[in-house]
Amino acid sequence: MSLPDSLFFGDIATKFQKWIDESSYSSYFILVDSSSSVYCLSDIIHLNPNIDWKIIEIPRGEAYKTITTCSLIWEELFTNGADRFSLMVNLGGGVIGDMGGLAAGTYMRGIDFVQIPTTLLSMVDASVGGKVAVDFHLAKNIIGLFKTPVANFIDSKWLHTLPQEEIRSGWAEMIKHAMIADTSAFEKMSQFESFDEIDFESWIMHSVSIKYKIVESDPTEQHLRKGLNFGHTIGHAVETFFLEQETPKKHGECVAIGMLCAAYISNKMEGLPNSELEAITKLIKKWYPPIAIPPEAYSDILDRMSKDKKSRAGQVKFTLLPQIGTYVYDKTPSNELIKESMAFYNQVITEK
Ligand SMILES: NC(=O)c1ccc[n+]([C@@H]2O[C@H](COP(=O)([O-])OP(=O)(O)OC[C@H]3O[C@@H](n4cnc5c(N)ncnc54)[C@H](O)[C@@H]3O)[C@@H](O)[C@H]2O)c1
Ligand SMILES: [Zn+2]
Repeated sequence: MSLPDSLFFGDIATKFQKWIDESSYSSYFILVDSSSSVYCLSDIIHLNPNIDWKIIEIPRGEAYKTITTCSLIWEELFTNGADRFSLMVNLGGGVIGDMGGLAAGTYMRGIDFVQIPTTLLSMVDASVGGKVAVDFHLAKNIIGLFKTPVANFIDSKWLHTLPQEEIRSGWAEMIKHAMIADTSAFEKMSQFESFDEIDFESWIMHSVSIKYKIVESDPTEQHLRKGLNFGHTIGHAVETFFLEQETPKKHGECVAIGMLCAAYISNKMEGLPNSELEAITKLIKKWYPPIAIPPEAYSDILDRMSKDKKSRAGQVKFTLLPQIGTYVYDKTPSNELIKESMAFYNQVITEK
């Protein structure tokens, strides 16, 4: 399968410089957060010293992925004279990509934007697939658009400064891609014992290819794209639960929780073999900390799921695995089974 010309892998110095040198925008904006401004910004702006970059910096973290921050970005664009021929470069993790994409995608009914993902999660997931959004009332990605960047530069070089917990977070989405579409990748991933053993450059490309192929078959998520929601129904609800408790957990950590619960439900409803449920349990326990879900929160988490934007008339839809490497979607387990899956998760994370 071929990837689109707008997706560039590796050697950002040469590729981005060439791309931007050949571009002719009226002005150039670059959006960063308080980390990507420290670790990544100078590398990019030094590449093209002739460009009068206008830098927009926002505080880091999911808590700032809001319409309020978006407003600040629009303010900066507007007061600095951005017009319909301006370019916005989103340099950062998924928060920057999602919010910068939404800000650019709506400013003057949409200006061009480029994604330069600097976290593993944004390289393999958030920057690919044309979804941009912000959170609303602590619910994830409620205000958003389908909008594709004019270019996406994916370079694993940024991973050198990324904390391990962020690597682990992105790794969850890579595991997800393997679980829904590639049995042999899942088996190889099960063999790794540490991130040092992993050739990220090639694994990132592989993971992006899986996502891209699924997105291409269903860009607006009518059917096959729902596969990418594997682990996210419970995962998102758990994520917002912990966010509200002011003990936020990484997106990927919550997705890992959600995938283990969904694997249990798959075992009960879709015949996922016991051996595969065990393999998934082992893999997730190897990489992710044992974050317990308080049993008194099960109902609250169920309630959050019914408010998720993927629900229809409050009915919670799951993507499930009949076996590793293939998926089914729009499945509706009972509330009892969903609670049981959380109890299963809580139990297995404490077992040796
Ligand atoms: N649009 C989509 O299809 C899609 C898919 C998956 C996830 N997402 C969204 O992505 C977001 C999560 O993305 P994320 O995990 O990248 O979070 P993030 O953007 O908050 O980045 C994580 C942390 O890493 C820091 N950081 C970024 N690059 C760095 C670098 N090179 N070195 C050191 N620190 C660096 C950031 O400042 C931040 O503190 C969520 O909001 C999620 O909803 C969107
Ligand atoms: Zn995700």
